[in-house]
Amino acid sequence: MEMEKLVSLCKRRGFLFQSSEIYGGLNGFWDYGPLGVELKRNVKEAWWRDMVTAHDDLATLPGAPEAYEMVGLDSTIIMHPQIWKCSGHYDLFHDYMVDCRESKKRYRYDQVRGRWVTHRDRRVFITSSAEAAEQEAENLTQRALKFFNLRGKNAEELKWEGEVVSLTQAKDFTQVLGPDAKELGTLTEPREYNLMFKTIVGALGSDDDAAFLRPETAQGIFVNFKNVLDSTRVRIPFGVAQMGKSFRNEITPRNFTFRSREFEQMEIEFFCHPNSSRGWYEYWRNRRMRWYTDMGLANERLRLREHDPEELSHYSCGTADIEYAFPFLPPGEFGELEGVAHRGDFDLRSHMEGKLDPHSKPELKVELGPDGKPKWRGSGKDLSYRDELTNERYVPHVIEPSAGADRGTLAFLCEAYCEDEAPDENGKMQTRTVLKLHPRLAPIKAAIFPLVKKDGMPEIAQDLYRSLKKKAPAFYDEKGAIGRRYRRQDEAGTPYCITIDGQTLQDKTVTIRDRDSLEQWRVKLDDCVEEITRRVGG
Ligand code: GAP
Repeated sequence: MEMEKLVSLCKRRGFLFQSSEIYGGLNGFWDYGPLGVELKRNVKEAWWRDMVTAHDDLATLPGAPEAYEMVGLDSTIIMHPQIWKCSGHYDLFHDYMVDCRESKKRYRYDQVRGRWVTHRDRRVFITSSAEAAEQEAENLTQRALKFFNLRGKNAEELKWEGEVVSLTQAKDFTQVLGPDAKELGTLTEPREYNLMFKTIVGALGSDDDAAFLRPETAQGIFVNFKNVLDSTRVRIPFGVAQMGKSFRNEITPRNFTFRSREFEQMEIEFFCHPNSSRGWYEYWRNRRMRWYTDMGLANERLRLREHDPEELSHYSCGTADIEYAFPFLPPGEFGELEGVAHRGDFDLRSHMEGKLDPHSKPELKVELGPDGKPKWRGSGKDLSYRDELTNERYVPHVIEPSAGADRGTLAFLCEAYCEDEAPDENGKMQTRTVLKLHPRLAPIKAAIFPLVKKDGMPEIAQDLYRSLKKKAPAFYDEKGAIGRRYRRQDEAGTPYCITIDGQTLQDKTVTIRDRDSLEQWRVKLDDCVEEITRRVGG
């Protein structure tokens, strides 16, 4: 599937718009249109229902070490700045960037890709300025030809080395041709860049009033751990789920909504006994992977990838990413949908004590003040847990399945997009564009059409529409040829279309058409609402 086609469908049919478009747009920010907002709400609702409200607290689910409870939370976006000190985000949440002195553009160090090429003893690392993965190879060739002043017919004089790799592997920057540069060696050495958005709380506006927009929802859960324990009867093991906006000042937002500066996360912090944390880690990796396949992502485009030790975040002692083969990536490459991390007791301990496990990474050793105490501190509150049955007191370990609602929505859209053939109103096969979304995710569950605008058909169709709308999102359309109306619903991902026709007037039956199989069958008008709600899981 070509990404441009999906992007254009999303705009044309009101799934996604560039934010602030009439002012030229704002890079890294996206608005969801009338269909998009329903799709994303359905993704979030499916997650919340499957992970929280419909979770069976009493049963031991397949693969789970024991039965567990799940509750929800909704914390604020702006929180006490000390939280980000203790979480490590203030000091460690950064990417490396490189600037180009010639083009004045800024790039994420690890995202610039290029390849070594030699021409007549001159060896240069040419980087690509292509946005789309499919154009990368062609773009590299064109840039190399231009750089060495060669014509296309002399392309075989270029001696390419190895594969296309990240700039992080090119040690000598003097021989690098930046993505938008004409000269060599215009990229600066990589520099750290904190990804948190800074803001000011209150009217005074001094540096003491600085605060941050949260870069993850997770910390809101950790700092409420005690509140949840004290206000409910949950016992370990239990999970707290939260979904909401997060903000990261990404250096190079790209690939549609995949890397945005404002996005939504769906996170669970699962608190368990340190001795059983490995088992829970395994459980959550598999549980979350299964959720994506249940929601329609194909197994062959999904993978679970365990992080190498050097790739682990500052808090993590084990992380696996659930990844999807997004169509904008080069063939064989996958992009992160969700991370499942074993965070140990890092977060609770640092919010409690403000000092970290002596075994943690060296860069996390806390700087000491003149009094010999850590320069920054935790809350000083006791965030340990006492098991009432055994009387054991411990700091729980945490397993964190952390998903992106926008990335999930994008993956579901990519998976659903399809072009196939369907008969038009004259029975002639025509190419159609269809979004084969899982019925739970589809923005509209059923569309209702009177075949013609006369003989009482619109009245019957409108009555059915009103009855159905009370149970599931429905759409009424009486305009244009019936084939055209089907096609519009196929593009919107509507799983069922119901037609009121001449036969309805005689025997009170209607036709239901299935979006994917194109099968059509008749049901009694009176049974139609029940049939649709049963099929879409209402
Ligand atoms: N609390 C852990 C955490 O935030 P993360 O891997 O940085 O971990 C979790 O983020 C998920 O949030 C990612 O797997 C991704 O789905 C989503 N996400 C992260 N950065 C994003 C961005 N810039 N744009 C869209 N989604 C993003």
